[in-house]
Amino acid sequence: MPVIAWLSGIVIAVVVAVIVYFFAGFYNVSALRPGNSVMSSALESIREASVERHAEATPPAGLDDASMVQAGAHEFVEEGCVMCHGSPGVKPAKFEQGLDPQPPGVDDIGQDMSAAEVFWIIHNGIRMTAMPAFGGHTSSDEQWKLVSYIRHIRQVTPQQFATWNADMHPPAPREGEKPDSDRD
Ligand code: HEC
Repeated sequence: MPVIAWLSGIVIAVVVAVIVYFFAGFYNVSALRPGNSVMSSALESIREASVERHAEATPPAGLDDASMVQAGAHEFVEEGCVMCHGSPGVKPAKFEQGLDPQPPGVDDIGQDMSAAEVFWIIHNGIRMTAMPAFGGHTSSDEQWKLVSYIRHIRQVTPQQFATWNADMHPPAPREGEKPDSDRD
């Protein structure tokens, strides 16, 4: 019995300490701190497991067609993805350096994910990161175009990206330029 009493005391003390730590402001929510804390790795594992469990959509036919990749590149600028993720020949906007977690760039965005997982993330966003949900204001057709582009982003050249988006108003950012953060 005394052992149980001790254990209960310890459990209660730990719970109280955790509550005080988080709700009395001791936990530092600054995004300036490097994101390699226990909290960051726990959140990363939670995100991965959650996306894996929820991503169920079946990709449409033609996901690897050149026309769909090109249309996706257009959406990538139109929806502002390029500001956080960059694109071949285009750097992300300056504010991207202040995000925690950091958005993956051209070399690794969605590269180890299935098409359904990339679609799920675009549709739903990722809570507690800067990744917005696009499901509320873009069609699933547009979201699949983005998936198509992301699947091929590493093969797209800066020249192709600039040419495909040359008709955009305001024009798509050129090689080495930063995207316009007022684009809508
Ligand atoms: C305001 C910044 C921001 C914008 C705009 C943004 N993202 Fe993201 N995105 C992020 C961040 C931050 C992450 C990383 C989240 C994480 O670490 O779990 C992310 C993650 C992702 C991932 C997961 C990739 C991976 O390998 O983990 C995909 C796919 C993605 N974004 C696609 C898009 C697309 C497509 C758009 C535009 C329709 C877009 N994002 C717009 C910030 C942004």
